[in-house]
Amino acid sequence: MSKRVIAVLTAFTILISGAMLTASAQDAPTPEEQAAAAVDTRKSLFKLFIHNLRPIAAMAQGAPFNAEIAERNARRIAAMAPMIPELLAHDTRGFDVETTALDKIWDNQDDIAAKAQALVDNANAFAAAAATGEMGATLGAFRAFGGSCGNCHDEYRVDND
Ligand code: HEC
Repeated sequence: MSKRVIAVLTAFTILISGAMLTASAQDAPTPEEQAAAAVDTRKSLFKLFIHNLRPIAAMAQGAPFNAEIAERNARRIAAMAPMIPELLAHDTRGFDVETTALDKIWDNQDDIAAKAQALVDNANAFAAAAATGEMGATLGAFRAFGGSCGNCHDEYRVDND
């Protein structure tokens, strides 16, 4: 091999091992980065909830009733809600993160699980009512459904509503 080829190969090896070092640094995020990521992920879940709940809330406030959308969106929320305890398990107390989650979440994980389950049950009950196509029964089930969001926020989220 010519000296030039060797020099190029050496430079290349150094580049690659540099990239691998960077990659392994990325593989091991700091506790601060992990906390920030955990907050991001749980906020994403809640954003998907509100995205799906908003059209239903609008129907409850007089927008045209659409049983199909009501049922579909409630089932989506019921399917996602079991992720709440999982995503609220990461204790982010003491980290400099942008959050409205209250510290007592991490002293009350059983209650978080119970409130998540209440949301699952009420979302499913709402979806079952919507499946009948009856507007009165469906909107009648909305109070309990929407209330299961508020019940948790009242206790475990900074009061900014
Ligand atoms: C078991 C508890 C619990 C339930 C049930 C719950 N939430 Fe929340 N929610 C929280 C907590 C805790 C936060 C604060 C998250 C943070 O800032 O880290 C939050 C934050 C939010 C946010 C703000 C997200 C952001 O980007 O800051 C929205 C919107 C929201 N929830 C909507 C809903 C809706 C809609 C429902 C019902 C379909 C619901 N939540 C049910 C606990 C709950």
